[in-house]
Amino acid sequence: MRRNIVAGNWKMNKLFSDADDLVNAIAEELRSYDTSDVDVIVCPPFPYLELVSDVSEDGDFFTGAQNVSKFENGAYTGEVSATMLKSLGVDYCIVGHSERRKYFKETNQDIAQKIDRLLNEDITPIMCVGESLDERESGRYLEVIRTQIEEGIFHLSADDMQRCIIAYEPVWAIGTGHTATKEQAQEVHAFIRNLIREKYNDDVAQEVSILYGGSCNPTNAKELFAMEDIDGGLIGGASLKHKDFIEIASSF
Ligand code: 13P
Repeated sequence: MRRNIVAGNWKMNKLFSDADDLVNAIAEELRSYDTSDVDVIVCPPFPYLELVSDVSEDGDFFTGAQNVSKFENGAYTGEVSATMLKSLGVDYCIVGHSERRKYFKETNQDIAQKIDRLLNEDITPIMCVGESLDERESGRYLEVIRTQIEEGIFHLSADDMQRCIIAYEPVWAIGTGHTATKEQAQEVHAFIRNLIREKYNDDVAQEVSILYGGSCNPTNAKELFAMEDIDGGLIGGASLKHKDFIEIASSF
């Protein structure tokens, strides 16, 4: 059965010493919470992965990366491979975040390749999908999500699909303070789960955790996570404050 998950995406924030303070504060804060029914994941920038991974060994959380190369290894200057991530103790990796689609022109085909690299190394992909404001307002949002899912992840076998996490992050809700309502989020989560059911079967659909991301905070997390098909959150801004992040993680 699918797990409850809260993952913090630090994006391109924090200097090394601040990252050190933050991850240790998260580990400390987690000691006073019962998080047996939630997997907490911390996704720092690449240079801090080893630090976070070291602290996570004695802490009640996992380490995730924010991106991975679609290539295996070799002459790809500036890239970081799935094998490298594995060697640092990384267990999860975000792929296809809307910021990567927008600023780095990542395509659904790139994302599909990245997912394959990660699964080869036994790293759990957290695959992001989501529509722009224009796509929502014109009523095309479900079709956009369908294409992202079909082209990005539906090449997987049923077994591999069950090893993945999907994050619904409406672009208009990211960093804007305009959270999707619980009904708007639930509609898309149920739609995604139904796509998985139609492509594979109900067992697979029930195994895949689907996270919500976009201005999720300690005030709105509880009502979002209470929805039937929302299994947790991918948290940006609020994951940079340890108390807010852990409060969100204890919102189930
Ligand atoms: P915010 O929580 O800052 O809106 O960011 C969400 C996000 O993009 C997480 O990946």
